[in-house]
Amino acid sequence: MTGKNYVVARIPGDGIGPEVIGETSRILEAAGRKHGFSLAWADYPFGADHYLKTGEILPASAVEEMGSMDALLLGAVGDPRVKPGILERGILLTIRFHFDQYVNLRPAKSYPRVPLPVAPKGGQDLDTLVVRENTEEFYIGIGSRTEKGTADFSLDTKRGLYSLEGKLRGTFSGGVEGAFQLGVASEPGVRRVVAYGCRAAKARGEDKITLASKSNALPQIYGFWEDIAKDEAARHGMGLGIVNVDAMCYHLVRTPDLYGVVVAPNMFGDIVSDLLAGLAGGLGVAAGADIGDGLSMFEPIHGSAPDIAGTGKANPIAAILTGALLLEHIGERTAAKAVEDSLTAFLAEAAPGDLPVEFGGQGTTRAVGEAILERIQ
Ligand code: NAD
Ligand code: IPM
Ligand code: MN
Repeated sequence: MTGKNYVVARIPGDGIGPEVIGETSRILEAAGRKHGFSLAWADYPFGADHYLKTGEILPASAVEEMGSMDALLLGAVGDPRVKPGILERGILLTIRFHFDQYVNLRPAKSYPRVPLPVAPKGGQDLDTLVVRENTEEFYIGIGSRTEKGTADFSLDTKRGLYSLEGKLRGTFSGGVEGAFQLGVASEPGVRRVVAYGCRAAKARGEDKITLASKSNALPQIYGFWEDIAKDEAARHGMGLGIVNVDAMCYHLVRTPDLYGVVVAPNMFGDIVSDLLAGLAGGLGVAAGADIGDGLSMFEPIHGSAPDIAGTGKANPIAAILTGALLLEHIGERTAAKAVEDSLTAFLAEAAPGDLPVEFGGQGTTRAVGEAILERIQ
């Protein structure tokens, strides 16, 4: 019993975001009551409706406010009515960058009776951890489209570790139109993510990490990644496997339990974590956390799933497991375990018809949330 009161910022967001965050919030509150702490939500309306109504995306004042809170819980942002990137970059990536949340942690774990599309080779269980770099590479946001064949663009960018400065100009001959997008990697930026992966592997009792790379085609940026990763892994006494990301995808669909900790540059990490989520049973069970030294954000891997929003078909398990990661992060380990245990017990014991729609049952978002919550009380 810690008796603490935590202040948690909450952005339910778009589509299925509010549905899955609703269930998660009630479960975290119940875990708090049981384990002697309370959560005070600081709610923010940011997302498509708010943007379309007010034109506001994410005011700096809200970001400042969140900085003093214990954690941030986010559902998902993105809506077919809004041009792609406006909300995703304007809210999600802005928060990741502002708080220098340099690790995107994405566990891919199997749970009882969650059907796996490909059987693991080493038994029934899948337990892989993706450690994705979260502030650099092609996500850094430097680029431009040309106008009459030429683009002038600025490199000016601020990150927790450094600021970047400079200007670039690119010109296509004959006024051909095109676009530029720059990938950026820095030594401390790569090193801290590899170090995080090494510590995570050690905590799991493993002696090796695997890097998703692609230095055969992009030797500057991924060759640099490989060199830093080799050095950092050696400093930790950790073995390092380097696998081209295309081959990694191939190996994964045949042997989903091939890797323990996968460390990945930003874009490969985005792609490989969705692949692993699919292999672990679906995006509806895939939790995620954006970890930094300041405010950390907790958000499932999945998006706003407009195709099923409002139907009750959204599986809340990913968000609930994300909530468990949040509890662990704020130091409420027993409560975090209680949430995961209740969820596991629900999956193990539920009648087939009560399982989430994603697993072939008829369990709605609310019904699944309720059944997990009952097991906590
Ligand atoms: P998505 O993750 O929203 O959906 C992909 C597929 O998975 C869809 O068929 C969807 O129905 C299914 N799915 C996702 N979550 C599920 C759940 N909990 N239960 C059952 N099925 C689930 O990806 P998308 O379709 O590429 O993106 C939709 C929108 O979300 C876009 O605007 C995108 O930019 C945004 N997005 C946001 C985030 C985020 O905020 N973290 C992440 C990814 C995508
Ligand atoms: C994710 C999402 C985001 C990303 C998008 C919405 C910007 O796909 O969290 O995986 O690419 O990081
Ligand atoms: Mn993604």
